[in-house]
Amino acid sequence: AIIPVLLSGGSGSRLWPVSRERFPKQLLNLCGERTMIQETALRVGGDHGFADPIVICNQEHRFAIAEQLQTVGIRPTHLVLEPFGRNTAPAAAVAARLAAQRDPAALVLLLPADHAILSPEAFRAAIATGARAAADGRLVTFGIQPTSPETGYGYIEKGDGLPGAEGAFAVRQFAEKPALAVARTYLEGGRHLWNSGMFLFRADRFVTELERHAPEALAAADAAIAAARVDLDFLRLDPDAFAKAPNISIDFAVMEKTDSAAVVPCDIGWTDVGAWSALWEIAGKDQIGNAVLGDAILVDAHSNLVRSEVGLTALVGVKDLVVVVTDDAVLVADRNRVQDVKTVVDRLKADG
Ligand code: GDD
Ligand code: MG
Repeated sequence: AIIPVLLSGGSGSRLWPVSRERFPKQLLNLCGERTMIQETALRVGGDHGFADPIVICNQEHRFAIAEQLQTVGIRPTHLVLEPFGRNTAPAAAVAARLAAQRDPAALVLLLPADHAILSPEAFRAAIATGARAAADGRLVTFGIQPTSPETGYGYIEKGDGLPGAEGAFAVRQFAEKPALAVARTYLEGGRHLWNSGMFLFRADRFVTELERHAPEALAAADAAIAAARVDLDFLRLDPDAFAKAPNISIDFAVMEKTDSAAVVPCDIGWTDVGAWSALWEIAGKDQIGNAVLGDAILVDAHSNLVRSEVGLTALVGVKDLVVVVTDDAVLVADRNRVQDVKTVVDRLKADG
């Protein structure tokens, strides 16, 4: 069975004031009843034929994650703790090694713990398609039809279909986070897909690609596992060894360099829920476009997102706003400017 790896490392700073460093977006119920990491784990649960997952997260979040997963009946084989984040390449290296210890030919499915997928069945069908290419030694990505020249994503240029793996294609080029002008040409050219940030590969194949393209990340991961400490249910990576890992993403370290990438184009209702506008887009809305969570009264207001966690929130005669009320902070933002919420967080950090 495919081994899911849940990557939990981001802080989701554009979703302030709900997402905080100590409680980042993957630990929150932003889109539904369950938290994002719970949704992610259940999407690839045992009843869908997947193996128990490997989870790799920051040590600060260990109890919240352990409890959230237990609540929904998910039992990770490893709950790996990072002393600090070194981005996704070292985390993926650790996970691939642990999976390879179980079975070198095991298929590993790397999943960000903070994405929303509206069509889980289509998602699992895409994984089944990708599994054939991955078993053949490919590093499989899942490509999303782009709708804007977004510069926060990787772009995948789709090549020829792969023999024996219908629905999977070779990758001509992988370009992580291109400049805006380049992203525009990709969008207009029509040959590129967005990288969804999910990857499927044989554990041993990924290790080989790391040896070739990111040997420092692999060496640090290996040393951090060798000197790791078992603590309750957790596997604590050795801080001194892990500190030697370069701070680099899997996209830059491996995907831009490998000649074994493949892509499965898919339409799965994917969003990485980067900012409040994405939540407004996927939320249920009234007839005039308001998405409301919690206690709120809206008078002559349309196309707003309201999240009222305490007390009552009222909006009168306004449109296209994001209003988020928590017990210690309030956000009021233009729905088209929510990328800049990060500036608030930066300023908070600067002020200590
Ligand atoms: N364990 C762990 N440790 N997880 C991490 C770390 C880390 O140090 N850093 C990031 N992660 C997790 C994040 O929580 C997220 O779930 C996932 O790995 C991806 O990291 P991001 O930091 O969110 O990456 P990104 O959004 O800039 O870019 C990636 O995702 C895009 C799609 O959302 C890339 O793969 C892009 O190519 C892709 O388009
Ligand atoms: Mg992301």
